[in-house]
Amino acid sequence: MNIRTTVRTVGVVGTGTMGSGIAQTFAQAGRAVLMYDALPGAVDKALAGIAKSLDKLVEKQKLAADVAGATRKNLRSASLGDLAGVDLLVEAVFEDVAVKRALYGELAKLLAPDVVLASNTSSISISELAAASGRPAQFIGMHFFNPVPLMKLVEVVVGLQTAEPVVEFTMNLSRELGKTPLRVKDHPGFVSNRVLMPLINEAIACLADGVADAATIDEVMKLGMAHTMGPLATADLIGLDVCLNIMEVLHRDLGLDKYAPHPSLRTMVRAGQLGRKSGKGFFSYGQ
Ligand SMILES: NC(=O)c1ccc[n+]([C@@H]2O[C@H](COP(=O)([O-])OP(=O)(O)OC[C@H]3O[C@@H](n4cnc5c(N)ncnc54)[C@H](O)[C@@H]3O)[C@@H](O)[C@H]2O)c1
Repeated sequence: MNIRTTVRTVGVVGTGTMGSGIAQTFAQAGRAVLMYDALPGAVDKALAGIAKSLDKLVEKQKLAADVAGATRKNLRSASLGDLAGVDLLVEAVFEDVAVKRALYGELAKLLAPDVVLASNTSSISISELAAASGRPAQFIGMHFFNPVPLMKLVEVVVGLQTAEPVVEFTMNLSRELGKTPLRVKDHPGFVSNRVLMPLINEAIACLADGVADAATIDEVMKLGMAHTMGPLATADLIGLDVCLNIMEVLHRDLGLDKYAPHPSLRTMVRAGQLGRKSGKGFFSYGQ
């Protein structure tokens, strides 16, 4: 199997929270990035956010001004058709299996046969998406963390049919981005969410049982366990709807009741209390 390992141009599909961070990270590492989003105005919003992020990094002397300038020049808005010329495709669209499957159907017709496809999914099976892509050997999970330009980890998720040279390519590429890649097998929740979500769920259970208030629960984990952020603040950052969705995948696919989402999480999501993005979750956020 022939795979393209020289990556000059990257296509990023879906330019929301994660896609914009991924685009910025590739552009900072000197790659030309073509950004495509189905929602009109989404790429412009992402570009404005990236410009702000770069300004902040320069201000804090974490990035040289000329690198920030070059990064801006590396980013370009694109149509779906423009992606035909990319050397690598990274997908970060909604966490919805039907949306992702339909997109991969389109991309399969468009991309050169040696191009690797990487999905940033947090919980959907890489092997399932790989099957939908029509090129399962060239399909891999490249699970970045929020905020992408700052977080070091890339969880490299190896599907049932992912070819070994594709794993090696992805590990090397992640290092070139300044990240630390860690290889894991495609299995529900991978490692990150399989460990994190039960922790969050248990913190929610402590809150519901009145063991302590939200701030105290988070402080226990920060001061006692050296976590940088408490589990409830982390859940607010991720989005409570996203957490619920991942817990439902773990519960369904691992088939054990210990993964069942706490009912009070479901109630909060139904009430529209989704964490930071809605202004209220376990904590309140001024908006
Ligand atoms: N938010 C996180 O902390 C986080 C962390 C790791 C991984 N992820 C994963 O990253 C992916 C994106 O999450 P996000 O938080 O950035 O979501 P988001 O809602 O911020 O952005 C998703 C973007 O995808 C676009 N989109 C939807 N369908 C599309 C299509 N068919 N073609 C092109 N664009 C389309 C939307 O318009 C939107 O701009 C998901 O798979 C999610 O599980 C999220």
